[in-house]
Amino acid sequence: MASAFPESRHAPDSAFAPPPGREEILRAFCDVRRHTEALAAPLTPEDQVVQSMPDTSPTKWHLAHTTWFFETFLLKPFYSDYQEFNALYAYLFNSYYEGIGPFHDRPRRGMISRPTVDEVAIYRSSIDERMKRLIEDADRNIWPKLCDLIVLGLNHEQQHQELLLTDIKHVLFQNPMAPAYRSDLAAPGQGNAPPLTWQSYKEGLYEIGHDGFGFHFDNECPRHKRYSAAYSLASRLVTNAEYLDFVEDDGYRRPDHWLSDGWNEVNNDGWRHPLYWRKQDDGTWAEFTLGGLKSLDLHAPVSHLSYYEADAYARWAGKRLPTEAEWEVAAAGTPIDGNMLESDYLHPVAHDDLKRSPIGLRQLFGDVWEWTSSSYAPYPSFKPAAGTVGEYNGKFMCDQYVLKGASCVTSASHARVTYRNFFPAPAQWQFTGLRLADDG
Ligand SMILES: [Fe+2]
Repeated sequence: MASAFPESRHAPDSAFAPPPGREEILRAFCDVRRHTEALAAPLTPEDQVVQSMPDTSPTKWHLAHTTWFFETFLLKPFYSDYQEFNALYAYLFNSYYEGIGPFHDRPRRGMISRPTVDEVAIYRSSIDERMKRLIEDADRNIWPKLCDLIVLGLNHEQQHQELLLTDIKHVLFQNPMAPAYRSDLAAPGQGNAPPLTWQSYKEGLYEIGHDGFGFHFDNECPRHKRYSAAYSLASRLVTNAEYLDFVEDDGYRRPDHWLSDGWNEVNNDGWRHPLYWRKQDDGTWAEFTLGGLKSLDLHAPVSHLSYYEADAYARWAGKRLPTEAEWEVAAAGTPIDGNMLESDYLHPVAHDDLKRSPIGLRQLFGDVWEWTSSSYAPYPSFKPAAGTVGEYNGKFMCDQYVLKGASCVTSASHARVTYRNFFPAPAQWQFTGLRLADDG
């Protein structure tokens, strides 16, 4: 498992906090890199090369691309006399950095049978050895800059760890045999969803965004003021039972609940229920999970909803989605605690299973990312990180929505209240759900 993260000063040029020491960085580097390989270990080589749709990437690509990140942004500029591992890898494993050079088409990543899974493992270990030497030997003058980039690379790899799991879930789901990613996942107990209550928040001028102390992505800055009218948030996430009421009330057949683009998706793609739900011959519902096909746990949070589905449910329920500011103001100061990767369920679970706090807002972190109604847009006076890594976030600030919290496959050390995840409105393959909001 990934250890707690060293506090890099990122974004670069920040005047806060001294850089962490070399041992701390080395430990974090080894932990994160090993953990990615542990996530891939239950998979066969055949599993690792499949791309099930343009949005997903093969496991092998994730393993190679995260390695390319360290080779490109650390070794090439900072390792003296660095010899590129393989010049063609830059083309194959660059994701979208125009400033670095041309790259292979994303929807065609599954057509790449070479390098093999074994050759990618050799690539990883070669880059790891040189990264360890760089961490141990780098000149003191460049250490702060290196730290910023290494910690960015580790957070980047944690994002890909989550994608590796959500992508392989989608891959395995295509198989009529419904194979499990792992058959030894932790088994949740028979928890019940607690009664839904409402927490109220006063009208006011609030601050959101990162204060610049400790690691953060550039899209979380600057911290700034937002006005909110009085509002309320549901104490917990929407459950499968509640969402099933929507499905059985012909929620997917009544256009009055849906945004126009969402209704087009319903009709064009035949949406009738959440992506991984299956109605059994006996009339009960099952759900495909990373542990294979399981009975639908009616008390667990509903997951794998697109923005359109989350929004339609909220309309049907007579409520709405929260804005990102409403969510962040309410979550401020809450411990980062919940059903995340370390719980090893790799699936949302009924809240009581985890014996969490019985009061206040529950499930803010873990289980599912929570859709907000906020477009993914730059905060006022947003500046992308300097250099080519500035392509990391800023250029995607169009046609996507912000999600808050964390999911059951997010590392706890990767979650924070100011985190801004983002996906396009039709996306269903991430662990995405909702918490209801209301005015007043
Ligand atoms: Fe990436």
